Amino acid sequence: MYKVGIVGYGTIGKRVADAVMRQKDMQLIGITARKHNYRVEIAKKKGIDIYAMDDITELCEHGIKIKGSLRNLLSQIDVVVDCTPKEIARKNKEEHYDTYPNLKAIYQGGEKADMGQSFVAQCNYKEAIGKKNIRVVSCNTTGLTRTLHAIHQKWPILRVRATLIRRATDPGQTKRGPVNAIVPCLELPSHHGPDVRTVLPDVEVFTTAVVVPTTLMHMHNLSVDLKEHKVTREEVMEVLRNTRRVKIVRKELGVNSTAEIMEYAKDLGNFRGDMTDICIWEKGVGVHGKEIFFMQAVHQESDVVPENIDAIRAAMGFLDGEESMNMTDKALMKPNGDNPIRD
Ligand SMILES: NC(=O)c1ccc[n+]([C@@H]2O[C@H](COP(=O)([O-])OP(=O)(O)OC[C@H]3O[C@@H](n4cnc5c(N)ncnc54)[C@H](OP(=O)(O)O)[C@@H]3O)[C@@H](O)[C@H]2O)c1
Repeated sequence: MYKVGIVGYGTIGKRVADAVMRQKDMQLIGITARKHNYRVEIAKKKGIDIYAMDDITELCEHGIKIKGSLRNLLSQIDVVVDCTPKEIARKNKEEHYDTYPNLKAIYQGGEKADMGQSFVAQCNYKEAIGKKNIRVVSCNTTGLTRTLHAIHQKWPILRVRATLIRRATDPGQTKRGPVNAIVPCLELPSHHGPDVRTVLPDVEVFTTAVVVPTTLMHMHNLSVDLKEHKVTREEVMEVLRNTRRVKIVRKELGVNSTAEIMEYAKDLGNFRGDMTDICIWEKGVGVHGKEIFFMQAVHQESDVVPENIDAIRAAMGFLDGEESMNMTDKALMKPNGDNPIRD
């Protein structure tokens, strides 16, 4: 049993915690909290042990039983999954995690690439086996690498041009925007292209990005030039259809927007109502000579969740990446309602 602790129980942390609890080979030892809020209350209801980052007064005043300090948590676990906001993990790494020689650490995509082995399970699981520090890349980079890797394996890619239409913030957040604007990212390329190359170093990718007033998903519009091959649309569909953690949105479903994808995910009874697969609209796939065009939607809150689970196994030296992904996907497919909520 791999013993896992989670530092930061927000959008990503709470999902990774639920996913860890579904794995037969993992045990969630605890999460950390800083202050009282609904997420901590729910962790308590789920019977998760809570460790305090620093001052415990406010948590105790609200009846949250604190099991110990961060260091108490770290001393019991094999792997820490740090799900704190951008750049906080680096401080945690230097002050805490690095001082435990046997502790493995998983970081998120808000951190810079030097934090650890950049990771997307179906692209480079092998490179992460036994590594002390692994960085699960961002939601956008995960989406781009899953589909580009599949195409590149079949037909070497000459270059990729992609425009990312990014959600403004997550559904549960109220403090970020824009509310009524389209904001171009005036960094060329946007950071996503170089980040893809931390996983797929030999794929030339140039990305641009805009932020739009929506919370539900990101959209990517891609143009992929192949080195040599002229392909048919059917051949491209075949590759995408057979790619793990990618879903083709069939035209007859009438799912024509990101809003409908998220509704579809809930109606399917997906774990937490999430869509961990990258969704490609069947009607949006086109071919022109050696160029392939497609549009994909990325559920930012959840596509990295299975990656975190596989990263835990890779860090612990589990050798078979395919088997890890099978185990993860099977566990996450269990219908909702299986979580151990104790009311
Ligand atoms: N959200 C996404 O769509 C998304 C997608 C992919 C990757 N990521 C990456 O995942 C990471 C986490 O993002 P998130 O969206 O989950 O953030 P989030 O929702 O803001 O949650 C962050 C969590 O960390 C805790 N925290 C904040 N400061 C801390 C500190 N100094 N020490 C310990 N804990 C602290 C917060 O506690 P409180 O509740 O007390 O504030 C909260 O539980 C980032 O690297 C991000 O780039 C995010």
